[in-house]
Formats: sequence, structure tokens, C-alpha cells
Amino acid sequence: MADKTILRALAGETQKTPPIWMMRQAGRYLPEYRATRAQAGDFLSLCYNPELAAEVTLQPIRRYGFDAAILFADILLLPQALGADLWFVTGEGPRLSTITEDKDFARLGGKDDIHETLNPVYETVKILARDLPEETTLIGFAGAPWTVATYMIAGRGTPDQGPAHALKAENRALFEQIIDLLTQATIEYLSKQIEAGAEVVKLFDSWAGSLKGEDFDRYALQPAKKITSALKARHPGIPVIGFPREAGDKYVGFAKATGVDCVALDNSVSPEWAAAHVQIDGCVQGNLKSSHMVTGGQALVDETRAIVDAFANGPHIFNLGHGITPDADPENVQLMIDTVRGR
Ligand code: CP3
Repeated sequence: MADKTILRALAGETQKTPPIWMMRQAGRYLPEYRATRAQAGDFLSLCYNPELAAEVTLQPIRRYGFDAAILFADILLLPQALGADLWFVTGEGPRLSTITEDKDFARLGGKDDIHETLNPVYETVKILARDLPEETTLIGFAGAPWTVATYMIAGRGTPDQGPAHALKAENRALFEQIIDLLTQATIEYLSKQIEAGAEVVKLFDSWAGSLKGEDFDRYALQPAKKITSALKARHPGIPVIGFPREAGDKYVGFAKATGVDCVALDNSVSPEWAAAHVQIDGCVQGNLKSSHMVTGGQALVDETRAIVDAFANGPHIFNLGHGITPDADPENVQLMIDTVRGR
């Protein structure tokens, strides 16, 4: 375990070559992913099929030798396990039943009712813990309560999270019940992933950037702190990565305030700024713009080198600033890896 480069970075070690993995590294830009997804039938069937979900998790490890594998699943499986309806519309994205009033919330189950639905996910983790190369770190994940709540309230992705902000303004008690349930259920969900063999867990707060002022503290920072401290109490030493995407200035102090071991950065902050203001508190992850995986060329090489250099004096895990997109060229991923590893 001591030799796993990702775990060393998370423990605060500065390494000459930063370890690397990529958000959405198992995804539609890879022909082998598209083939396995077709075999599964659809995206959710793939998520709930342990053998095939493990297979797509392993594909980018075989092809590229990333230092970490991230469990193949989705942040919206948890609301489904709590009783929300969930389906994916091809070419558009997720759809869920909505929460607009107290009776919608009352339909949902409790934090301990999730495991029957999520059992296949734990099975996927077990297969991966057995089959991954010994140097590869297995990362489990969940959505952060605010981000998951935005989908549960609106019933779909929204550009400005308007429906969730509206519910927060109009019925704060209901909104806070949703956040509390998700906080407790996320602790149970991640705990089971850790028991099954996840060595690190990551909390995706993709819409943290739309929480302003006190709301950021209440609904991004406090839930991350509760989840992190509960997981560390149950599983001493478990490393946690927080990703309050587009938090901007609020990245500063996020690790100290929540107890996460690493802060993942999106590409809207400059690596030089983040080295000075965020990496001073510990490990950071990021933050190459994912569009470089589409465009490639010298700009990809230059920007990759600039990020490695900016974070060279502290613990760093190289990654994109957000997930790789389906139109990316697999060759550009190899070019990024070769550049980071200096070949
Ligand atoms: O990173 C990984 O490779 C692990 C697997 C993973 C997926 N989704 C697989 C997926 C992870 C960590 C997620 C997280 C996730 N899911 C987030 C947070 C991170 C982020 O991207 O901001 C969010 C907001 C979701 C919800 C979600 N899932 C949306 C909005 C969509 C549709 C958008 C799209 O890219 O199509 C998904 C679908 C999804 N989740 C796909 C994958 C590989 C594509 C589905 C397909 O194969 O058709």
C-alpha cells in the first residue's frame, strides 16, 4: 500500500512525477466502453451489472495504466435507492421524479434502506479490489448532498440550479430535510464502498459554485465536514477527496474546514493561484481543461507542463478540471499521460 502513488500524494508527499487519473476515464470516448455499454443495453443496466461495470472501470487502466481507477457508477444511483424514479434520456441526460412539497419527501426511504438497490455497486467494488493491478488505487465516490439535491428537486440537470434555490428560499425546512437525509445516506453508502474495498472516496459537488455566502458554508462545507468526519471515525485513515466545483475563492480553507485530505480543482482557477492559496494546506488534484482532450497538439503539452510545474512543490494528483467528453480523442489522453510522466 505504501507504494501506491495516489495514497502517497494523499498522505501529503511531494512526488517528482505526480500520479494521474482522469474524471470520467471510463466513458463514451473509448470504443471499448461503447461496446460494453451496448452489451449491457443501457447506462443504468451497466451501472447495476457488477461484471460489466468492473470491466469498464478496468478498460482505461489496461489502455493507459492510470494510477487510480474510479468505480463505475453514477451519483444519481443514491436518490434511486432512496426511492426516487430515475431514467436517462439518450442525448439529453438524467430525469428523476421531482420534490416540490413535503409529501414528495415523505415518499422516500431512510438512510438504511438503500443497500438492497446499491448492493450491485458494492459487488463491483469487490471485483475491482480483487482484479486491479496492485499499484492502482481504487477510488469510490458519491455526489455531495447539495449537488444530488439539485437533481432530486428539479428532476433533471439545470443550468443555474434554479428549482433547488427556489425550494431553499420557499420551504427551507423541507430543503434542509433533503440535505440531512442525503448527508446521512451518503455516509452509509460510502461506508459500504470502503468495506467492499474502496481505498479512497471522492465527493462530487459539481454545483457547489452556485452556493453563495452563508449558503456555501451551510450546504457545501458542513455536509462535506459531517461526511468526512463520520467516515474517518468509522474507517480510521480513509482518505477523502472533496470537489466543490467552481468554488473559486471558497477553495481557500476548504480542506481545513472539512477535514478532506485533498481538494480537487476545476479549471476556472489558475494553478499558480491554487498552489499559493490551496495547496499550502495539502494535496490538490487537477486541473487541465477537458477541451484539450478534444483539441490536443502543442497547447495540450504546454498547458499540461505548466500545471505540473505550478504544483511541483507540494502534493499533487494530476487530473482534468471536469470529466472527459465523448468527443475526446483517445490519442490525446495518451499525450497528456506521456507529458506528465515526462516521456
Ligand atoms: O468518473 C468516472 O469515470 C466514474 C463514473 C462516473 C459517472 N458519473 C459515469 C457516467 C462518475 C464519478 C459520475 C459522476 C456524476 N454523474 C456527476 C458528478 C461529476 C460531474 O460530471 O459533474 C454528475 C453531475 C452525474 C450525473 C450525470 N450522469 C449526468 C448529468 C449525466 C449525463 C451527462 C452525460 O455525460 O451524458 C450522467 C451520465 C453518465 N455518468 C455517463 C457516465 C459515463 C454517460 C452515460 C452514457 O454512457 O451514456
